[in-house]
Amino acid sequence: MKKILIALAFVCGVMNAQAQALPTNLIPAPAEYSVRPGSISSKEMVGLHEKVRISEKALLRRLEGRKLEDWQLKSAYLLELGKKGVNQRSTQVKIVAADEEGVFYARQTLRMMASLDSSVACCTILDWPRFRYRGVMLDESRHFQGKAFVMKQLEMMALLKMNRFHFHLVDNPGWRVQIDAYPRLTHLTAWRPQAFFWDWEKNEIGGPFVEEGTPGAYGGYYTKQDIAEILSFANERHIEVIPEIEMPGHNYETRYAFPELACSLPGGGKDPWELCPGKESTFEFLEKVLLEIFDMFPSQYIHIGGDEARKNNWKICPDCQARMKAEGLKGAEELQSYMIKRMERFAHEHGKRIIGWDEILQGGLAPDATVMSWHGIEAGLQAVREGHDVIFTPTHYYYLDYHQDPAQFRPVGRLVSLEKVYSFEPLAKQKADGQGESQGVSEADAHHVLGVQGNLWTEHVQDAWHAEMMLYPRVFAIAETGWSQADRKDWPDFERRASVMSAVARKWGYTVYPPSTQK
Ligand code: ACM
Ligand code: ZN
Repeated sequence: MKKILIALAFVCGVMNAQAQALPTNLIPAPAEYSVRPGSISSKEMVGLHEKVRISEKALLRRLEGRKLEDWQLKSAYLLELGKKGVNQRSTQVKIVAADEEGVFYARQTLRMMASLDSSVACCTILDWPRFRYRGVMLDESRHFQGKAFVMKQLEMMALLKMNRFHFHLVDNPGWRVQIDAYPRLTHLTAWRPQAFFWDWEKNEIGGPFVEEGTPGAYGGYYTKQDIAEILSFANERHIEVIPEIEMPGHNYETRYAFPELACSLPGGGKDPWELCPGKESTFEFLEKVLLEIFDMFPSQYIHIGGDEARKNNWKICPDCQARMKAEGLKGAEELQSYMIKRMERFAHEHGKRIIGWDEILQGGLAPDATVMSWHGIEAGLQAVREGHDVIFTPTHYYYLDYHQDPAQFRPVGRLVSLEKVYSFEPLAKQKADGQGESQGVSEADAHHVLGVQGNLWTEHVQDAWHAEMMLYPRVFAIAETGWSQADRKDWPDFERRASVMSAVARKWGYTVYPPSTQK
């Protein structure tokens, strides 16, 4: 009898699991999916004739009273895949969307199902995103990957319905975008003798650069033509590219090209990375750079960095002291806040909004700034309570330079396994370190949570092979958290789908780390 009960429990368990599993390997999981009679072989899926209707009214009719925000409606779609005709021999694809963007996402769903499912079930899908910001950040300064690599990752992002690419273009180890007003930036700091970052940066003080054209030098940068090509590629895939120009910290390379932008101290001061916010020339420099960046990138956002300024120089620099006195600022944090607020005003004058790492909360947040919460989630929650928009990119969940498995090539930081990435819930009361509860986000404030982003810092990540191994499969999990409705998230089912997606991505030429069994 006991055996029968165990057997029954097992069968029920399996049936239950099957009931929950999506009948497709699609990632991210769609909001609503129902099976229709019949199935289509992957071969038949090639070149299907689509009946496309772009009409908000028609889509609203099919949504039958489901409440979607305007931005969700723009990305939403209905996809019907069915059989018709004599003996149900021909296949019909019907797409209804309010906007081209929705049609694009419906087509990504079709492409994914055709690639991931050996036989695609006829189905009706009604789908829309949970969050408006579904991003990946790439650090191009520490190691430079280049245009072909970026485009390849944009292609994968689009398949996963991700829509923001955060381009970390400048940092201590190199300035990687052409600025006509200051050609010294790339001429002097985009190249170095050592290929591997840690061979260059010893003891957290930057190493030597070499001039552009030096034989055997490592490095590179994006010309304006390169940026235009990347933007056109991204635009066709409904991805917004957000450039980051770091200030006031992480500017070793800028100070190398323009030592006069450091504080008025011997050698520019003990801290090697900060610009001097006491000098007007610093603002003139940043504004000229930003004007060219604004011309290059149509995004409504400019990311101004703001992280990890040590601020020691400012406490003794005569120019910083004079600025603090003139502006009535009570210390180095308020001086940083002065700088960020001033840059925000400049951005606004040019129709742009700023994003900054969560240190921009120090000394008072700029009125319209969006906070990228990276230390944990507490800073983000504080910003939300103050009425600001937030993007969650918590270190212990979304830092993709951290290892997925202790046995991984060059393990650094903490273990950030696929399951750990998948477990992050932006609106939950969990703490980012997994220890205890946070206040969470109230329902009224939830609209301030724009979404999520995975960050690939590249101190340890030298080439495309390694970079992709760090991105995948973990980006699949971030995509699902960003797009899929909370009630569609299901780790065992995702793990199954991620394994299929990993195999297919490998066939497409991506390096994908084997999904880890480490928790
Ligand atoms: C950061 O990791 N410094 C944003
Ligand atoms: Zn100074």
